[in-house]
Amino acid sequence: MSDFVGLKVFAPATVANVAVGYDILGFAISGPGDEIKIGYGKTPGLKIRAIHGAQNRLPKDINKNTAGVSAQALLKHLGKEDMAIEMDIYKKMPFASGMGSSAASAVAGAFAVNEFLGCPLSKRELLPFVLKGEEAADGAYHADNVGPSLMGGIVLIRNNREHDIVKLPVPNGIYAVVIHPNISVLTAESRSILSDTVSMDQMIEQSGNLAAFVAGLYRSDLELIRRSLKDVIIEPQRAKLIPHFYDLKDIAYKNEALGFSISGAGPSLFALCQNSLIAENVAKNCHAHLKSKGIESQFYISEINKEGAVKL
Ligand code: HSE
Repeated sequence: MSDFVGLKVFAPATVANVAVGYDILGFAISGPGDEIKIGYGKTPGLKIRAIHGAQNRLPKDINKNTAGVSAQALLKHLGKEDMAIEMDIYKKMPFASGMGSSAASAVAGAFAVNEFLGCPLSKRELLPFVLKGEEAADGAYHADNVGPSLMGGIVLIRNNREHDIVKLPVPNGIYAVVIHPNISVLTAESRSILSDTVSMDQMIEQSGNLAAFVAGLYRSDLELIRRSLKDVIIEPQRAKLIPHFYDLKDIAYKNEALGFSISGAGPSLFALCQNSLIAENVAKNCHAHLKSKGIESQFYISEINKEGAVKL
């Protein structure tokens, strides 16, 4: 956009599920995410001009790119579909990684349009539009990545279809580690291997853990959080997609993580930690273990990102 008149926004990467809340729990991290520059175009309608940092692997078609879909859905809602708008997308995070890459794009797309038009909607009101974008990525309708990427913090989704989300308190000092092994796991495959049913015993144990995790956040009770971050339903089914998963989990707990599990649909992994020193130890030791097994990885250490999407 040489003649660029517009603005820039950022939407952060996220960790979905958080062990105990499949499709209904997620948090945002600081650092990785998507940046979008938005400005006036030359011809009527929305256009994605360029996508940087994605090795040509993401579509520029606004009906296929999650940023395009969410931006277009919002423009349509506002009766501004014919406005000449151009976007440049900067992917500043790995994609197909389990870190909410498609969600960060979906959030940044609608958020950029909203900012560009002078904020006709509140952040929360953008949720249905960003969800449409996310749906374009994997065909499923869940706000556990878009919710925290948009709103920031740790977000609980009471009901995805009703867009009923709750921002949960974040205990002081908590750090997240996200480890991204350089292997590929497709979200669609990672969802398709899951059983359609859960047993009554699993339902009881998982509900107890989810409820206690939420209580732990409200009380800043780290020991309760530690006891609660146990996924008895999804993790046992998906662990086989991630080489050395249980070794890494052992390493995380030996280094005193509060919890460790798969980030979203994988292959990334996450740990919640009481402080930055523990987070560093978990990250470095998991990274070293993967390296010793011939797998390269990147890691991110961050406090929970309480802001979510922002104008830069
Ligand atoms: N909750 C989703 C899943 C997140 O685990 O499949 C990934 O989109």
